Amino acid sequence: MDVNLELSSPLSALQVMQDASVIPVIVLTDARQAVLLARALVAGGIRMLEVTLRTPQALACIEAIARNVPEAVAGAGTVRSAADAQACAMAGARFAVSPGYTHAVGQACRDAGLPLLPGVATGSEIMAAQEDGFMELKFFPALQAGGPAMLKAWSGPFGDVRFCPTGGITVANAAEFLALPNVVCVGGSWLTPAEALARGDWEQITTLARQACQMRR
Ligand code: 3PG
Repeated sequence: MDVNLELSSPLSALQVMQDASVIPVIVLTDARQAVLLARALVAGGIRMLEVTLRTPQALACIEAIARNVPEAVAGAGTVRSAADAQACAMAGARFAVSPGYTHAVGQACRDAGLPLLPGVATGSEIMAAQEDGFMELKFFPALQAGGPAMLKAWSGPFGDVRFCPTGGITVANAAEFLALPNVVCVGGSWLTPAEALARGDWEQITTLARQACQMRR
């Protein structure tokens, strides 16, 4: 975590990626729970939080974190349309992550002032995102689409791109991804297990966050 990073200022995609080894991918259904979870992750050293737009309550959860946990940065995941980008920006999201890339999503994020980590899984998708000026990309689904070997192969032709691999990453395989020179951080849902959320076991989540922060980059 960069203690000098001014969290209230506009952030770049690279700053979002560089803040910790892991961007947690979070599914939330309750705004109160969202606030407690955000505080638990911050206590473990993780501030950049990707709240996926996969539940009807996701926007309210983003809004609750943005309002009540200024020491965290609420971002939106699963941004699949221009409307998603506009809605999450209105809710207070400070960055966006998408599972794929379209020009419309890229443009809508720009218009809304949201740094975007576009999802890519092929060379053509990387080129489309690069054409629109995106150089920091999410490799999704990372394990299923080729894992560390794919990232090594891309480091030649796409040596100027930095990745946040996400999908299938766990505490057991994260280090292999993080050791690659074109990987800045990884994304994953393992920091916020559904059972821990359901139990309100914030200590477990803080412990998982702390462990993740100790992983070498
Ligand atoms: C997702 O979008 O679901 C993320 O890629 C998380 O994947 P994971 O659950 O395999 O970490």
